[in-house]
Amino acid sequence: MAHPTPSPATPLDIVIFGGVGDLSVRKLLPALYMAHLHNNLPEQTQIIALGRQSWDRAAFLHFIQEKVRGFIESKAYSDQAWASFVRRLSYACVDATDPADFHEIKAQMQPGSERVYYLATAPSLFVGICANLSGAGLVDERSRVVLEKPLGHDLASARQINHEVGQYFEEHQVFRIDHYLGKETVQNLMVLRFGNSIFEPLWRGPQIKSVQITVAESVGVGNRAGFYDGTGAMRDMVQNHLLQLLCIVAMEPPVSLDPDAVRDEKLKVLRSLRPMTVADVARDTVRGQYSAGASDGEAAVAYLQEANIPASSSTETFVALKAHINNWRWANVPIFLRTGKRMAARQSEIVIEFADLPFTIFGDSAHQSVNRLMIRLQPEEHIQLQMMAKEPGSGMKLRPVSLNLDLQSAFTERRAEAYERLLIDVIKGRLTHFMRRDELEAAWAWVEPIIDGWQQLGEKPKAYTAGSWGPAASSALMAREGSSWVEES
Ligand code: BG6
Repeated sequence: MAHPTPSPATPLDIVIFGGVGDLSVRKLLPALYMAHLHNNLPEQTQIIALGRQSWDRAAFLHFIQEKVRGFIESKAYSDQAWASFVRRLSYACVDATDPADFHEIKAQMQPGSERVYYLATAPSLFVGICANLSGAGLVDERSRVVLEKPLGHDLASARQINHEVGQYFEEHQVFRIDHYLGKETVQNLMVLRFGNSIFEPLWRGPQIKSVQITVAESVGVGNRAGFYDGTGAMRDMVQNHLLQLLCIVAMEPPVSLDPDAVRDEKLKVLRSLRPMTVADVARDTVRGQYSAGASDGEAAVAYLQEANIPASSSTETFVALKAHINNWRWANVPIFLRTGKRMAARQSEIVIEFADLPFTIFGDSAHQSVNRLMIRLQPEEHIQLQMMAKEPGSGMKLRPVSLNLDLQSAFTERRAEAYERLLIDVIKGRLTHFMRRDELEAAWAWVEPIIDGWQQLGEKPKAYTAGSWGPAASSALMAREGSSWVEES
């Protein structure tokens, strides 16, 4: 069932649990400011940030003025817009585990409002918050709840959270956010595939030789040691962002953009992923952890030397793996996924490598003939088709050149940040770019045996130098298939 489209005239209360936490300060409040600036919030929208600090309004506003402004693009900031934005804001000191405190939230709400509850907290609090909201009479059929990742720690905990949240909210009221689905280029990938006819006949094995998806970050663990060390790259990135990217690359054309039509197709991809045995895990996956090196021109300490990371930690900060999709379109096409922190560059890219020439008439210089479609998500957004061309001069010497589609210069319109776009979707009740329960569980079902396999194998993460492209084993994984990672030099 689709969510009824809310009326712009109805008052809206956006309640952020974890309202003064890291995510809220860095992403949610700046995104809401931008939505406000561009008149994308219903007129009577109120934003209620919840936290544990016993602040009055003035102290809260002082805090966010200090913290949030730095995350708003300077050209989008003006004192006037900020002043009108903060009129929408209020704060309540709430212990999310104490049902009595929920009456304070109720007291701050507008009469007859629609409610969006954004749970930017640890997942261990999700169920209690939903129960307390319901107990205080704050959930009705128009309410929506947004669940931040990670949703659970494994399949069983994800199922349990989904089940219990489902006691209070219908599935169509639950927005499981994966901010990669809000990125412009990721949404554009659907258009590239389903809004153009030229790629579809080629979009399959054996015309496609391999697919690689890299989400590389140059940053380290930062100030999230407590969270990250108990999570690791597999749960933090692969289970959600990378698998969601893979779904969009590999899905069949949906019958429409209806949320369930899209999510049904993504679910089929996840369910078609070939389960990994322990032997597959040993052969086809690489776990890494950064050692000291340099990043963005500065010395970088090893993961084990980062503040609040136990010196004996074996949490992975890097994963590379080879996956297979068991269906007609993708049988025998290796799919390489890779992500890591403290890598050589911030670079997120999907590379579709087309089949080798069956035969060449151009002699030796054609031996490196490769046609690749490269979809760069960040830092810049562009799509390149790598083709072979003749080098100028006598003779027939070949060299790769690119057809470039630079999305940033092709469109002059403002490009909203992922969180802004997704928050507007939540307000409008549009579920297409959010994960459905079965999708999330299917992703866990595939990832969990890999994590278990590492444990059974006693697989310690392999060291890689901060500022490199990961452990040597990651290149070896590719080389075994006659491929190599596409990396910025
Ligand atoms: C988050 C992860 O989901 O995504 C972080 O928890 C990671 O560890 C971040 O840094 C990356 O997002 P982006 O948009 O900067 O690529």
